[in-house]
Amino acid sequence: MFPATDRRTVLKSGAVLAGLSLGGAGALAQQPSDRVEQLIARMTPEEKAGQLSSFSDQIRPIGKPFNPGLTAGGIAEQLQRVRAGQVGMLFNGVGYAGAKAAQDAAMQTRLKIPLIFAADVIHGLRTAYPLPIAEACAFDPDLAERTARAAALESTALGIHWTFAPMVDVARDQRWGRVAEGSGEDPYLGIMLAKARVRGFQGANLKDPTRVAACAKHFAAYGAVSAGMDYNQTEISRPTLHEVHLAPFQACVDAGVATLMSAFNDIDGVPASGNKWLMTDLLRGEWSFKGMVIGDYTADEELIAHGYAADGRDAALKAFNAGMDMTIQSDLFNRHLPDLVAKGEVSAARLDEAVRRVLRLKEQVGLFDDPYRSISRRAERSSVATPAMLKLSREAGARSIVLLKNDNNLLPLRKNPGRIALIGPFGDDRDNVVGTWAFMADRELNVSIAQGLAARKLDVTTVKGSDVLEPIAGGIEAAVAAARAADVVLLAIGESQIMSGEAQSRTDIVVPAPQMALAEAVAATGKPVVVLLRHGRALALHGAVANAPAILATWFLGSRAGESIADVLFGDVNPSAKLSASFPHESGQQPYFYNHKRTGRPAPDTGSQEYKARYRETRNEALYPFGHGLSYTRFAIEGVTVPARMTDRMEVTATVRNTGARAGDEVVQLYIHDVVASHTRPVRELKGFQRVSLAPGQAKRVSFTLVRDDLRFWGEEGWVVEAGLFHLWVAASSTGGERQQFELA
Ligand code: NOJ
Repeated sequence: MFPATDRRTVLKSGAVLAGLSLGGAGALAQQPSDRVEQLIARMTPEEKAGQLSSFSDQIRPIGKPFNPGLTAGGIAEQLQRVRAGQVGMLFNGVGYAGAKAAQDAAMQTRLKIPLIFAADVIHGLRTAYPLPIAEACAFDPDLAERTARAAALESTALGIHWTFAPMVDVARDQRWGRVAEGSGEDPYLGIMLAKARVRGFQGANLKDPTRVAACAKHFAAYGAVSAGMDYNQTEISRPTLHEVHLAPFQACVDAGVATLMSAFNDIDGVPASGNKWLMTDLLRGEWSFKGMVIGDYTADEELIAHGYAADGRDAALKAFNAGMDMTIQSDLFNRHLPDLVAKGEVSAARLDEAVRRVLRLKEQVGLFDDPYRSISRRAERSSVATPAMLKLSREAGARSIVLLKNDNNLLPLRKNPGRIALIGPFGDDRDNVVGTWAFMADRELNVSIAQGLAARKLDVTTVKGSDVLEPIAGGIEAAVAAARAADVVLLAIGESQIMSGEAQSRTDIVVPAPQMALAEAVAATGKPVVVLLRHGRALALHGAVANAPAILATWFLGSRAGESIADVLFGDVNPSAKLSASFPHESGQQPYFYNHKRTGRPAPDTGSQEYKARYRETRNEALYPFGHGLSYTRFAIEGVTVPARMTDRMEVTATVRNTGARAGDEVVQLYIHDVVASHTRPVRELKGFQRVSLAPGQAKRVSFTLVRDDLRFWGEEGWVVEAGLFHLWVAASSTGGERQQFELA
């Protein structure tokens, strides 16, 4: 797909966005063992195809039937297929009993190759942690590692060996529902969190029975779907593909991720799941990835709908020869690989290579030593939703809340704030606290805002006022009456959890109209209103919501959301999160991202914007940009020192001072801009961040190291670093800070 020169240059340039010390190739570089080779030597083509086939688990009960139609009557048939050696993996089933039955069936096959169990553990399993886009706001890789580690602990107690996470798609169009599952709009932040999650899931050794194999998905550029519509095509320049969309995957590969999942979308006319350049030339040739690639759910079969394959046989041929090692749900590999090999259209070596990767994964997670690894009644009882997990969920939730606005220091509320009116569809709601991928979460663990407040013995009147998408008869009247009688209003409005996630794209990323009507009526009472936004994407805020004196972006925070929100409302936790995705003024600005190019007509900050890059209705800037987030205290960033010249590396230092009256954390961010280059460069690019905890009045010196590769970009021939003038900011957001400069030699 791309000229060979691109590929050579990638190879030469080493680690992605260097300076991040991506580490070695990880455990997967080891050779497959004799045991794996001996098995391969004994396997028939049909047994091999079976190992490369996986299905949605119909044997194990999950929290709520995911697909009742499929589940009905499927258990006996699925067990039968396992016994027949036609299944290598089952996914999205949970629990001891079914896992034992399924593994018993696998142990009855001729070669006794164990099943591997996978699941979409995206932000927890029974215990839910913040949605990834929310957790990304904490700008805290250590937190991401801890929640991934806790999720691994709980998953393995429930018989899971492999998670389909982290999702590392960089997403810059908030209309796309799956922005919820990623780390936002910035590749640097995405890389740091992706690596942390791989570490948290996998640890140093996958044989550790409390660790799970990770899967970086969706390879690649799924986050770039046109117009934010899920599953859509992508039209994407080579520089953007490499700098933005591929970079987090390469970081995961370098961090030793065990598996990758190929994406649904096409890239410049070649579907990712049939894309040999992507899955083989780049991934295997240049990145030296040794793990296995699973196709997304029926992604091989979808090559037919894409118009890239004629029928199921052709789809299997193209996906498999392009580099997909395992298929989900389509059953095309079982049906066609033996014949494709017999006819010489797929080589025996390619078949063995894919089987080797799958068996190697099973060996790595210890299944050949103990097929019943992670299948334990005791662990299921003792290591699920533990007090430590619930505490972490509460902590992570609070650390993910972004204080967007706080006029006149309305927040934090006093310990005894008088009468509170809790208004809105999410005030007393336990069904919309986890966010997408909640179907395996334990609803009984969910804490609503009302419950979170109840624990504090306050005077709270709770009124729904409106449903999420429809008005309620008399709802607004009841809400207004409650607001009038209150000293402060907490307005819990936004999106339900089904409004983001897979296949949940929106054209208009606003608070739905009935809730806006509620917000306007409540604001008209003149009572102070704190907006508690619930959302799986950045939103365009308008009217009474945008004008409220205080706004907290609370996303979907996981099981203990109500407690996390109360902790921040009352100042037990001083908010310190920063936006991982920019809030635009209008939906029509999408895709809006802070690291956009300048254009030939950049709009000035002051004066007329006529004939400049803007819209008739609005300036093309964010209402709340990437990196923005307030605190209950204030910080100053002073004394930034930047060497005038850089050759190989340089240190940038600054002092951050807490100038307010409370202890708090500031996330100090370092941005650069390459002023003149052979390819136009973004107005700013994040190249470092540090979280600093400061007591009132305290100051600390922070230091960032920049190396040459931090300044590279994808040019005509691949990665290049060009000498010349750079601007630099050490700032509290992507639009803040005083501009500095340096010359790269
Ligand atoms: C489709 C989704 O795109 C992917 O993220 C998920 O892992 C698979 N389904 C399996 O549930």
